[in-house]
Amino acid sequence: MSKTKSETKQSAEPEKVRIYIMGSRYDVPTGLTIMKAMEYAGFKITRGAGCRAGFCGACSTVYRKAGDFRIYAALACQTPVEDGMVLTQLPFVPAPKPKYKIDDLRPSANSILRYYPEVARCLSCNACTRVCPQEINVMNYIQDCLHGKLAKAAEESFDCVQCGLCTIRCPAEIPQYHVAMLARRLHGKYNIPTPKYLEIRVKELEDGKYEEGFQELMTIDKKKLKERYTTRDFMDQKKGGGDE
Ligand code: FES
Repeated sequence: MSKTKSETKQSAEPEKVRIYIMGSRYDVPTGLTIMKAMEYAGFKITRGAGCRAGFCGACSTVYRKAGDFRIYAALACQTPVEDGMVLTQLPFVPAPKPKYKIDDLRPSANSILRYYPEVARCLSCNACTRVCPQEINVMNYIQDCLHGKLAKAAEESFDCVQCGLCTIRCPAEIPQYHVAMLARRLHGKYNIPTPKYLEIRVKELEDGKYEEGFQELMTIDKKKLKERYTTRDFMDQKKGGGDE
């Protein structure tokens, strides 16, 4: 059964949505991501953007919606604009990242607490988990770190893109994503065997086996570089000792 004109009109998506950036109204095409909508509105994004594909975590963003008291958080390159969305610039969140020498540490809760004592202040409020755009159970891996279960923490946090939204919401001021990185480093160094090809590849790099190739890649133009990437021989990579 075909739709009447008015039904079609009602069910059709509006072509534009109204958003507010730093207090000014912009009408932007529906379906754009926050990042693209900001560019459509004339903002040039030179910081706070990297991969534009949901992997690097550089574009963490907070926003409000019309008539809603809550603060929402998301990756700007992945989240479509909604009518009435209010966006503003936020100062960065200070997330301390202490320096450590992994060789001097042991894979234990003490190593975590030595550099991140605030982990012991975790209230188990779960605000970090609720905000995570990667749907990681952040609170769980923080509790695992606290109890020295680094294998579980490493596994749980593996998909972290380091956007820092967990830290924005944490009342205990824990930089969860940095804690997770330390847990993964400790687990990788001490608890799992070194992958078969890693040592071989590191040795080859140290011996300069790929130096000539790197130098060549740095001189060719972008078009040729893309061509080389898309036509690369996967079988050759395997012969050379890639992932099995
Ligand atoms: S720009 Fe990399 S996750 Fe959004």
